[in-house]
Amino acid sequence: MRTLSEYAALVNARLEEIPAVVEEGRYAIGELPWLLSRSMRYSLCAGGKRLRPSMLLAAVELLGGRTEDALDFACAVEMIHTYSLIHDDLPGMDDDTLRRGRPTNHVVFGEGQAILAGDGLLNCAFETMLACAAKKPDRAADWLLAMREIATGAGVTGMIAGQVMDLYCEKEAATDKKALRFIQHGKTACMFIYPLRAAARLTGAGEDDLNALTAYGRAFGLLFQATDDLLDVTGDAGDVGKTLGKDAESGKLTCVSAYGLEGTRRIVDELHAEAVRAMERYGERGAFFRALVDSMVNRTK
Ligand code: IPE
Ligand code: IPE
Ligand code: MG
Ligand code: MG
Ligand code: MG
Repeated sequence: MRTLSEYAALVNARLEEIPAVVEEGRYAIGELPWLLSRSMRYSLCAGGKRLRPSMLLAAVELLGGRTEDALDFACAVEMIHTYSLIHDDLPGMDDDTLRRGRPTNHVVFGEGQAILAGDGLLNCAFETMLACAAKKPDRAADWLLAMREIATGAGVTGMIAGQVMDLYCEKEAATDKKALRFIQHGKTACMFIYPLRAAARLTGAGEDDLNALTAYGRAFGLLFQATDDLLDVTGDAGDVGKTLGKDAESGKLTCVSAYGLEGTRRIVDELHAEAVRAMERYGERGAFFRALVDSMVNRTK
């Protein structure tokens, strides 16, 4: 097993190739136009932590698979995550001007092009995964199941569902904790749970592995969003690479607004214990996942 930065390096190297880099001003029928390549790659290659694709690759190795076979799936997950960030930052959503330490996509390319850059990344993710199935038809059945997991996590019962309720609760000034859990499970935890489940599908793993990874992804994802909410209040803008203080300013329903800082820290500790328990069955082989969740409890970015 590798470290997070080693997995991230694998992902970054492949993302140098997909989506294609296109020379300035070039467009031709049947090709990716330069402007779309530039706007998609502007956000995709802006130095994100690459957590979700790295976790997918680590889970594939944990289950005895090969990272080479899963790399394009990992990149697809990062494309979908980046699309969700571009859209999340739009004026009609969280209206943010800083992301990954840079001006947000719509600030640089305009709102219309930013919407299309997000759409482009989402589509490119599925084109990339489908191309894998087309290249190795003997593995197509496993890959179809993996794609379905990823579509579900990003979809209308997953990430998009969470984002819908996030905006709704902001507008209605809702404060209820059931809605908070729904939002955070959808918008954030699903983007960890389902890539991990996809890793299980890619390796043909059984129900026990699927269940363990689902439990870990859920606890990890909820912890990750709780710490994101903490960082919005207590973080250092330089480290985080986003404008801080926005959640309170816009009246978002967050862990901090519902439970306070101390309450949120207690929830983080509980979720940490839950994530650790979920990986117990793997013993030493689960060390990557244990270390990763340990490092999230007091993260600064
Ligand atoms: C940001 O995700 C969105 C949340 C779910 C809080 P990350 O903090 O993983 O963002 P990057 O990919 O490192 O920029
Ligand atoms: C965003 O949650 C989750 C998704 C993009 C799906 P937030 O709105 O809290 O994320 P940040 O703080 O803008 O990164
Ligand atoms: Mg948001
Ligand atoms: Mg946001
Ligand atoms: Mg946030």
